[in-house]
Amino acid sequence: ASTLGAAAAQTGRYFGTAVAAGKLGDSTYVNILNREFSMVTAENEMKWDATEPNRGQFNYSGGDRILNQAVSNGKRVRGHALLWYQQEPGWAQGLSGSDLRQAMMNHVTQVATHYKGKVYSWDVVNEAFADGGSGGRRDSNLQRTGNDWIEAAFRAARDADPGAKLCYNDYNTDGVNAKSTGIYNMVKDFKSRGVPIDCVGFQSHLSGNPPGDYQANLQRFADLGVEVQITELDIAGSNQAQAYGTVTRACLAVARCAGITTWGIRDTDSWRTGENPLLFDGNGNKKAAYNTVLDALNAA
Ligand code: G3I
Repeated sequence: ASTLGAAAAQTGRYFGTAVAAGKLGDSTYVNILNREFSMVTAENEMKWDATEPNRGQFNYSGGDRILNQAVSNGKRVRGHALLWYQQEPGWAQGLSGSDLRQAMMNHVTQVATHYKGKVYSWDVVNEAFADGGSGGRRDSNLQRTGNDWIEAAFRAARDADPGAKLCYNDYNTDGVNAKSTGIYNMVKDFKSRGVPIDCVGFQSHLSGNPPGDYQANLQRFADLGVEVQITELDIAGSNQAQAYGTVTRACLAVARCAGITTWGIRDTDSWRTGENPLLFDGNGNKKAAYNTVLDALNAA
């Protein structure tokens, strides 16, 4: 196959990208989007600050633009993200305790209800685990509402949209380490207690090759009975093309790895300014990394 989406589809997988609503008028951007990708994630437009700028007042304009553009071009959508300690609207940053918990759950319910039946999966909770060696939760006002906030969010999302796969999404979880093991233990616990969780997202913001146990780490999560997804892939460094190939082959080697999403289209679209971590250059030309990904998908 000659495009990323079609090549991934040969093994039943998707190939996606983050999309910014403000770029949907850029014809180079939209041409690549429509040609190459079969899954879309809103880069910012479905986050809490965007969707509930004032408490109880919801704004789906940016998210809906992205979703409608995707669906009308035959693509699916990953919802991102219902609860995250960053990009909380100002009004929520000032809340705590039961008042915040109520606002969090209402947010999950309202947004998941708005997109009911329309998204492939939701990142229900994003980046809730701490970096470093503790393997524990990150401190945040969300966490301070009680350690059960994550499972409460997953249950509320399931109730609101039973058809969406519900994911936990995080970064620096690319190999077996304290952080990924903390998440692994949470997923295992959720599965044993019947808390609804269907997938784990590995953001994979990388510099050079992924850790040597990248595939093994994906596999240990898959063995818990959840889908794994590579959700925000971008790779800096001189061996970028090789590293992209390695990541792609790792996903292909894990039966429950459903697909790969890159965090933007062209290098100039990336949040990693100056690092040129994506598959297309600023003019929209395919880079060497594009070819290693396409070749890996076609070889599977
Ligand atoms: O929308 C405002 C705009 O009105 C204003 O003029 C401008 C001035 O700074 O800011 C705009 O908001 C920015 C927004 O991106 C949209 O461009 C925010 O300042 C900026 O902080 C925000 O950055 C996003 C970042 O998440 C927020 O933490 C990046 O685009 C986005 O790529 C990034 O994505 C995250 C994932 O959601 C989660 N994982 C990590 C990943 C990278 O940080």
